[in-house]
Amino acid sequence: MKFIPGNCYGIIGANGAGKSTFLKALYGEVDSTTGSVSFGPGERLSVLKQNHFEFDDCQVLDTVMMGHRHLWDVKNEKDAIYSKPDFSDEDGIRAAELESLFAEMDGWNAESDAASLLSGLGIKEEHHYKLLKELSGREKVKVLLAQALFGKPDNLLLDEPTNDLDLETVDWLENYLTNFNNTVLVVSHDRHFLDSISTHTVDIDYNNISLFAGNYSYWYESSQLALRQQQAQNKKAEEKKKELQEFIARFSANVAKSKQTTSRKKMIEKLNIEEIKPSTRKYPGIIFTPSREPGNNILEVTELGGSFEGQMLFKNLSFTVEKDDKIVFLSRDTRSMTVLFDILNGLKKADKGTFEWGQTITTAYLPLENSEFFKKPIPLIDWLAQYSDDTSEMFMRGYLGKMLFSGEEIYKNANVLSGGEKVRCMIARMMLRNANVMILDTPTNHLDLESIQAFNNTLIRFKGNILMSSHDHEFIQTVCNRIIEIGPKGVIDKRMDYDDYIMDEKIRELRNRLY
Ligand SMILES: Nc1ncnc2c1ncn2[C@@H]1O[C@H](COP(=O)(O)OP(=O)(O)OP(=O)(O)O)[C@@H](O)[C@H]1O
Ligand SMILES: [Mg+2]
Repeated sequence: MKFIPGNCYGIIGANGAGKSTFLKALYGEVDSTTGSVSFGPGERLSVLKQNHFEFDDCQVLDTVMMGHRHLWDVKNEKDAIYSKPDFSDEDGIRAAELESLFAEMDGWNAESDAASLLSGLGIKEEHHYKLLKELSGREKVKVLLAQALFGKPDNLLLDEPTNDLDLETVDWLENYLTNFNNTVLVVSHDRHFLDSISTHTVDIDYNNISLFAGNYSYWYESSQLALRQQQAQNKKAEEKKKELQEFIARFSANVAKSKQTTSRKKMIEKLNIEEIKPSTRKYPGIIFTPSREPGNNILEVTELGGSFEGQMLFKNLSFTVEKDDKIVFLSRDTRSMTVLFDILNGLKKADKGTFEWGQTITTAYLPLENSEFFKKPIPLIDWLAQYSDDTSEMFMRGYLGKMLFSGEEIYKNANVLSGGEKVRCMIARMMLRNANVMILDTPTNHLDLESIQAFNNTLIRFKGNILMSSHDHEFIQTVCNRIIEIGPKGVIDKRMDYDDYIMDEKIRELRNRLY
């Protein structure tokens, strides 16, 4: 498989199919068992990883510059020589060499380039000299994104870049990638994002990997067509051909707007439906069975105030959760929801105010960050057993099976799981609680489309209460019947549809006054 400059390859596939592993093989973090990877001469490679914790102890601006490893090493070696108390002749020669290398790589502008990338992504200057771990998850991913983009690499690998990004930054990134002339490979489960950036689609299906010209929608539509044609065995060859031609005509009309018009047109003309093999897709079985119905008193929150590292996020938040309430919490600063949910789960102290859960209530929490839970290399079956009264293998297998871990997979170590597999485990942990209130912080992060669909359907049918935050429009619209928006200057609390909420002119005015 060859990746060509100017193209943007969207990498798709189910959770656990091997997308992150494929990228790791490209950048050399895991050795591939067979085959080889080669780059153009002198080409540089940059990566945004799915795990956002690696650089926690580095300074923000340094983290960005580390994106250009060679430049960073030269700078450090140079600085080390200059800080020596006795400066030998060899040091002098080496320093001169390093200086010229440094200048060749435009080192003198590195710091200001890094700073302007950060500012473009909305990270204010006051944060540039902080440690990465002092930033929120959302800011952190922006810094790591700046690191990957720094110095305009020849090859850019991005693993789920839109997780934790706000919509504005996603737009910024879409623009950036559309105008990027080098080679880009992006893993994503976000269909809208993929469609707007990718010129090609790479489908990873456990043991198979295949490349198509065209974006996600094109891949999806043509593989659906292939599936239909395979199933319709008895259809006449002519009919199939006609169907294919209609499909091609429809898509050719659509590609007129695309930036790769001619190459895509050619590719569409060559489309051979027999070659397209729809990949394996599986739906997890997500079933929440409350051990009892919630009583009349569910949750009473009174004048609650919350902050993050000294920054006030909300104050005077009061609300009462009523029967059948499924609430989405919104805020321009997504940390507000994380702080609120942590407080309600007893993991963090409120600045002010009180809250009280009803006697009949049991909660299950899906936190935004789950890396804490997966540090130890213990087999999955033992991992899940920590959260269950019944720890028999048969019982555990039942839960893991619903989350699509079967056979030998239940002995896999918890610390090697893929991003989506970890979320599936956290969902299994929630299922074991038989809770009647679900608290979900951005539940769709990392999940593939099938899991999101399964999760969405379960929450629509769920008989208890839901308190959640999400940036998935469809998810909010179909699940929630109440909206609470929280800002540092106030609160809006409405029982209405999400679509109506975001369209309403009066509400828009109210919203602007919250921040
Ligand atoms: N060291 C390891 N030992 C055994 N299995 C591993 C190891 N590392 C990863 N895996 C498994 O390999 C599979 C592929 O993982 P990978 O992280 O590449 O998935 P992915 O396609 O990126 O999924 P996601 O969409 O959830 O991020 C997973 O089932 C994972 O559990
Ligand atoms: Mg992954």
